[in-house]
Amino acid sequence: MSKSNPQVPDENASGLRKGLTSYGDNGFSLFLRKAFIKGAGYTDSALDRPVIGIANTGSAYNPCHGNAPQLIEAVKRGIMLAGGLPMDFPTISIHESFSFPTSMYLRNLMSMDTEEMIRAAPMDAVVLIGGCDKTVPAQLMGAASAGIPAIQLITGSMLTGSHRSVRVGACTDCRRYWGKYRAEEIADEEIADVNNQLVASVGTCSVMGTASTMACIAEALGMTVPGGATPPAVTADRMRIAELTGAQAVKMAQTGLTIDKVLTADAIENAMRVLLAIGGSTNGIVHLTAIAGRLGIDIDLKALDRMGKETPVLLDLKPSGQHYMEDFHKAGGMATLLRELKPLLNLNALTVTGRTLGEEIEAAGPGFAQDVVKTAADPIYPQGGIAVLEGNLAPGGAIIKQSSADPVLMEHEGRAVVFENAADMADRIDGDDLDVQADDILVLKNIGPKGAPGMPEAGYIPIPRKLAVKGVKDIVRISDGRMSGTAFGTIVLHVTPESAIGGPLAYVQNGDRIRLSVKRREIALLVSDEELARRKAAAPVVPPTAERGYKKLFLDTVTQADKGVDFDFLRAPSVNGRAPK
Ligand code: FES
Repeated sequence: MSKSNPQVPDENASGLRKGLTSYGDNGFSLFLRKAFIKGAGYTDSALDRPVIGIANTGSAYNPCHGNAPQLIEAVKRGIMLAGGLPMDFPTISIHESFSFPTSMYLRNLMSMDTEEMIRAAPMDAVVLIGGCDKTVPAQLMGAASAGIPAIQLITGSMLTGSHRSVRVGACTDCRRYWGKYRAEEIADEEIADVNNQLVASVGTCSVMGTASTMACIAEALGMTVPGGATPPAVTADRMRIAELTGAQAVKMAQTGLTIDKVLTADAIENAMRVLLAIGGSTNGIVHLTAIAGRLGIDIDLKALDRMGKETPVLLDLKPSGQHYMEDFHKAGGMATLLRELKPLLNLNALTVTGRTLGEEIEAAGPGFAQDVVKTAADPIYPQGGIAVLEGNLAPGGAIIKQSSADPVLMEHEGRAVVFENAADMADRIDGDDLDVQADDILVLKNIGPKGAPGMPEAGYIPIPRKLAVKGVKDIVRISDGRMSGTAFGTIVLHVTPESAIGGPLAYVQNGDRIRLSVKRREIALLVSDEELARRKAAAPVVPPTAERGYKKLFLDTVTQADKGVDFDFLRAPSVNGRAPK
């Protein structure tokens, strides 16, 4: 029987003895726990092993995690081969298309679920199975706060399909075909046909959307085993990664390699570098800011912009380029990219293997001829994919994915065509009476963190139908919302502070002039301060509130994009560092 103080949890306990339920008698708590788990047929010798939790995010509502059962089997094999005891447990699972009102609204809830389950259940290390956009950030945020050894297992990308001999994949091609349908270039029959081909298997979106971005970021952070980002979901490579992940989790438990030793400011800087070099999703910044915030590391957006000027886009993947994730994997995956980026990386950053990123790049060997990862001398785009904008329209900053924007529109002044919220936009965008020209600037308010709420990916404002049918493919668009990483266009996002809390965006009116200069990193509303103050006094903004439940928690505590849209009480209580340092 345990001789420890019955009232105080034993911080040094391991395995099944960790985090005993409070009955006032630790010996009894362990006795009871073992009695119950033995009901599932376990022996004492199994229960004496290091316990490795596996966060199971399989869900019928989440086809991006449709391989979770096979992954769990392979992870368990790896854990048992390495001498551990696997224990999988369910958490919330979030899929982009099955989340009302929007997946981002639920990311912080999933991170809390993950954090508290890691704390509540006895485990010496945890394997986090994630893939769809919000799941990997939610898991890394939760695990960072929980603080135990943690390793990320990505579910892997879907395969590409074929539509009338054209290779297609979600979701850049979803948007491309829907744009053609809206422009009346293709008919009902063809849009129905392509719907069968866009998602050819389980797994995450096959382009450099947010899921692929976060997979690459997780590997750049050192949070996956080497090569963990790119194997498609249904491949043998993916299952081998899962087995290796399970085995590595046991070693991490044995050596006490906690997450704070991996997620350092150096690792965050490496992830920022990779985000720029892969032409990654703009959402990557928000998520990385939130992950870093859990460890008290502030991300310096101006420095990110400076890094962008010296970091070319090397990865030739849609939407910035032409290939898909499975091609990146066949080209050697992240090792090929990291080898090319080596002079710009913090090579001493520790990874989950206990070796440094530099050692892992060396161990991956010299590489081979391929055409998916370009060289620094011959990049896809000369600068990093994301530029950070400032100006009186966005005092707290805004961003644009310049690698998928129209170079002509990136230096542009135009007349504002304003939509007050997403419903207003949906009502009027396709109307014949909408007063809009191709050189106007579309402004969408109230899709920020509190506005929608949940900062939906509605920043990809559709081209008004009357312009689309005339062949207009791009137009400057500005909002306080986000955009899917699979989308493209000259689109300014994350305008901070958002309109719903009275940011300047709230006071833009139809006909105002707006100037965008990506070269000067400027987003300016050409309206005087006096006029803006007059508009504010005439119609002050009242931030949204809720009476109860998760919505109340969300609206009361969610932060702006520059703080990662995390809840204020979930961030580390103090700032311990900055990335880049
Ligand atoms: Fe899950 Fe795209 S919808 S990754």
